[in-house]
Amino acid sequence: MFLVRLIYVSEFKTDKSSGELKNIIENSKLKNKELSITGILCADGDYYLQCLEGARDVINSLYGKIISDDRHKNVTLLEYTEVTERTFSNWYMNMIVFNATTDKLIFKYSVDENFNPYKFSAKTAFNFLKEVSLQNR
Ligand SMILES: Cc1cc2nc3c(=O)[nH]c(=O)nc-3n(C[C@H](O)[C@H](O)[C@H](O)COP(=O)(O)O)c2cc1C
Repeated sequence: MFLVRLIYVSEFKTDKSSGELKNIIENSKLKNKELSITGILCADGDYYLQCLEGARDVINSLYGKIISDDRHKNVTLLEYTEVTERTFSNWYMNMIVFNATTDKLIFKYSVDENFNPYKFSAKTAFNFLKEVSLQNR
């Protein structure tokens, strides 16, 4: 089965202090490990930007669940592509915490200082996530 990479963006529906984010990330780490899914999740309180890597059928099935998850809304696909290797193979799911370094990267990849991944192209999103993950190793 092919390896694929999927990147999507969505909007928070629950308050960021609700503890829901912690649940999402903890469950994702466990479930992704079982399914050999790797990736990264950026969540700033307004938006999610997530990259998922794994077998095509597994990623398709997870994305189906994610789309209908009512903890977020306006799920928008940025990239779906076959890949020859994983980029985030060290993490079943790496949650990125925003800090001063991340802020600099947001500006590097955006038209202004605000994190709005709906304005990212697929390539920008991927490059941003790659660089952010290197800062959070
Ligand atoms: C922003 C966001 C990211 C998510 N990421 C994952 C993930 O990486 N892996 C995962 O198994 N579920 C993830 N989920 C949860 C799924 O939508 C779904 O609830 C979960 O796969 C459990 O589905 P099931 O009980 O039908 O198996 C995420 C949910 C949200 C809102």
